[in-house]
Amino acid sequence: MSKQHLVIFDTTLRDGEQSPGASMTKEEKIRVARQLEKMRVDVIEAGFAAASPGDFEAIQAIAQVIRESTVCSLARANEADIRRSGEAIKPAASGRIHTFIATSPIHMEKKLRMTPDQVVEQAVKSVGWARQFTDDVEFSAEDAGRSDIDFLCRVFEAVIKAGATTINVPDTVGYAIPFQYAENLRRVIERVPNADKVVWSVHCHNDLGLAVANSLAAVLAGARQVECTINGLGERAGNASLEEIVMAVRTRPDIFPVETRIDTTQIVPASKLISQITGYPVQPNKAVVGANAFAHEAGIHQDGVLKHRETYEIMRAQDVGWAQNKLVLGKHSGRNAFKTRLAELGIELGSDEALNAAFARFKELADRKHEIFDEDLHALASDEVVTPEQEHYKLLYSHVCSETGEMPRATVILSVGGDEREAQAVGGGPVDAVFKAIENIVGSGAELLLYSVNAITTGTDAQGEVTTRLAKNKRIVNGNGADTDIVIASARSYTNALNKLHSSLDKVRAQGDI
Ligand code: KIV
Ligand code: ZN
Repeated sequence: MSKQHLVIFDTTLRDGEQSPGASMTKEEKIRVARQLEKMRVDVIEAGFAAASPGDFEAIQAIAQVIRESTVCSLARANEADIRRSGEAIKPAASGRIHTFIATSPIHMEKKLRMTPDQVVEQAVKSVGWARQFTDDVEFSAEDAGRSDIDFLCRVFEAVIKAGATTINVPDTVGYAIPFQYAENLRRVIERVPNADKVVWSVHCHNDLGLAVANSLAAVLAGARQVECTINGLGERAGNASLEEIVMAVRTRPDIFPVETRIDTTQIVPASKLISQITGYPVQPNKAVVGANAFAHEAGIHQDGVLKHRETYEIMRAQDVGWAQNKLVLGKHSGRNAFKTRLAELGIELGSDEALNAAFARFKELADRKHEIFDEDLHALASDEVVTPEQEHYKLLYSHVCSETGEMPRATVILSVGGDEREAQAVGGGPVDAVFKAIENIVGSGAELLLYSVNAITTGTDAQGEVTTRLAKNKRIVNGNGADTDIVIASARSYTNALNKLHSSLDKVRAQGDI
């Protein structure tokens, strides 16, 4: 049976970023977009251009660097939003505008305060405006899962006539049940004139834990685009997870008449990157990308797998990018070997200065930790992907004294815009003391929303990777830091978060919002 192409539309950078606290900087979004391109995602929804100048700039920057995937911007169904999206995707080799309006009775009446006739008119006009910027226009009927089928058919017929090329039927509130969602999609496709001229798409939320099941049922009913996110990130309970959709289709070719072009070996690296940047951990038993997804605990299972892998494994760990921790470099490795390995891992540091700084830290790390793994290099490189203007605060020195029966005491020296400042503090624990000392210097007043530490590899000499989430003036940022000393990793992570807050506050001030 010849397979049809299933378009993988990744919305990690848009719907995924709507998860509380998962906001990313422009540089982080570019890193994610590069990884998605490397994974061969068809469409990258890079953001919502009209949401903020930061979103606009990030979409534009992604459109400038991504060549192998279509870059898409979301837009509400109004002329200003669509123009902003059109401008943001202009540099793209292939650009899409995704415009949406709600079609369910509750959304039209209570939220939009529009009649169904007005919604149809606005949808048609919006597709027309979008077509002035690109031939690749997607229309979404928000809350389609709770919309009337006759009305959906009417809207879809009208927007196809107006030039929409992809029609998305979202289950915005995660209300659908697989057989019913698939049946409704089948009926819509059968009834709408020129249905064969467009790509039918689904976008499912996971409020009932059915996002992947609904998306796959829809594929069997004719959907040829699935909107999904890495690790299932997204609004509320999240979206359908990309890795589960892609691996289900690949593992069950007997069921699905479609195939994707995804390089599945890039799935685990993408999952780790998103988790590290957003500070959202991946649960160990998460399908495909959880740490235990390929671990066999029961003796009877272990025995079976040793005798014949397929007794208990339906996928191969290496096919989704799980590599054995690889010893890659040691303390005698030179700058060239280091640079080559970073390139093999797809890590670009941007400048010779950043490479030199990363190499110096690698040498320091190699002195303290005998075995350096790919994961260590990823963490080390992440710490270096900051431009000088993003490094208003720089950790120069940290000393913590921690002894039984005494409150830990920390001394910290920071460079603040080039000036050296020192402060001391005592705290409930060493990390608390360091954070208080830093705060004594910076005086940010930011609220600490999350602090988490993860060992990057195994062993007591592993680097600890710390995420610190801070909030101030409705801005939420995540800071990361890694080191074999978790107190230093924590100080780095806190300083990194303060730098992000500093640059985002600067941006807001520049627009005169606050
Ligand atoms: O959930 C939803 O309906 C959306 C649309 C904008 C596609 O995210
Ligand atoms: Zn959504």
